[in-house]
Amino acid sequence: MRLGRRRNEPDEERPLVFAGSASPALTAAICGDLGIEPARGETMHFSEGTLFVRALENVRGRNAYVVQSTSYPTNDNLVELLFWIDALKRASAASVTAVVPYFGYGKGDRKDEPRVSIRARVCADAIEAAGVDRVVTMDLHAPQIQGFFRVPVDDLYAMPYLVEAVRREGLESPVVVAPDAGSAKRARRFARRLDAPIAIADKERAEHDERAELLELVGDVEGRDALIVDDIVFTGGTLIDAARILRERGAGRIVAAVTHGVFSGGRDRLDACAIETIYCADTIEARPDPPPAKVRTVTVAPLFAEAIRRIDRRESISTLFEE
Ligand code: R5P
Repeated sequence: MRLGRRRNEPDEERPLVFAGSASPALTAAICGDLGIEPARGETMHFSEGTLFVRALENVRGRNAYVVQSTSYPTNDNLVELLFWIDALKRASAASVTAVVPYFGYGKGDRKDEPRVSIRARVCADAIEAAGVDRVVTMDLHAPQIQGFFRVPVDDLYAMPYLVEAVRREGLESPVVVAPDAGSAKRARRFARRLDAPIAIADKERAEHDERAELLELVGDVEGRDALIVDDIVFTGGTLIDAARILRERGAGRIVAAVTHGVFSGGRDRLDACAIETIYCADTIEARPDPPPAKVRTVTVAPLFAEAIRRIDRRESISTLFEE
């Protein structure tokens, strides 16, 4: 899956990949895989809280990509992404693709109570209004968020990379555990790759205080090593509850694979819980506090690089994930 720079490729045919302030390391790794240097640009943060972005090289007629997760600080990084799209568009890029490894506000995908905003939709509208031609993202909290955009969206899966990392654990008779019904499809994909059965937990979230309660576990886990899979970890409550119930039901070793390690809290509780290792993709690289010590980062840079290569060559992306 690794891509070397194409020999004799004229400079003007190479993609220009800019780093937003949330994703410089991932951008460097993506560019390393593509065999190019990150495009030159700058972001300035002013004392009154506004910001400014500028491309420092010619983008006219080029396919431009800007890599920016909308996390830490979510709102600033979202606005910066909008300014990048606008700057590149106004500088006459042939196309502007927003590569958003972690799409913040993904949980605001519906109006399930009165007088609330569908925040993911508002973000999608803003990104589109800024002039984006395409969005590449990873493990959206709800795949239907793709439909909030009119432009094409490629929602990549971290799963193949996380599975490879988990395989090295040598789990015995593994069972893949979805910590809530929303993760069942994801769990099935992991289970197919690992040739394992699945178990599903029933989780209830009563309020917006980020606390959820795990009520029941459906599936046989006794005597099996367990792999908990999820799209995001915020406070860690979901993983900790799942680990507790797995212990109660007689599971053996417990590891977790999560795409987006937000880790907005719960560091000590996560380190103290029965999960041995939490594998996370490198979609979020800057956090106010360090993640739990048991976190192992799995890079998905080659996957984003391959997506960019295929977009540039007008090749299929879905075939990347064929079973
Ligand atoms: C829920 O729908 C998500 O998939 C995650 O399970 C959840 O957001 C994780 O949050 P926390 O780590 O705070 O339990």
